[in-house]
Amino acid sequence: MENFVWDDKYAVGIKEIDEQHKKLVELINDLNEAIYTGQGCQKLETVFKEVIDYTITHFSFEEDLLRSNDYPDIMAHEKKHKELTKEAMDLQEQFEGGNFLITMQVMNFLKDWLVTHILEIDKKYETFLKDKGVT
Ligand SMILES: [Fe+2]
Ligand SMILES: [Fe+2]
Repeated sequence: MENFVWDDKYAVGIKEIDEQHKKLVELINDLNEAIYTGQGCQKLETVFKEVIDYTITHFSFEEDLLRSNDYPDIMAHEKKHKELTKEAMDLQEQFEGGNFLITMQVMNFLKDWLVTHILEIDKKYETFLKDKGVT
């Protein structure tokens, strides 16, 4: 699968968040490369764990930022994060249990949710936070 190419249309205009989203893209691409260059399961497992850990870190950073600015849709946003985290962890569990056939599924899932979540859900707070003076 082709690497995910960052595009400015994904930017939400808040420096720290955009940096974190870019870092997530980078990690997903690392995972993609680890899969397609046939690197060992050990390596895959490590990279996979990195993706999940960074995702969790990013989600809580974003939630803190939204909460401290009294973002009205915080509950719905947190719910989305929880669902995504659960799905990702389920896949991780299967993967660690030896189901390596799911790697394609994992890649599709990660790319999909990243794009959809940033474009449809994260984008919703862009104007709100900007109006609050968050840059
Ligand atoms: Fe989010
Ligand atoms: Fe995000």
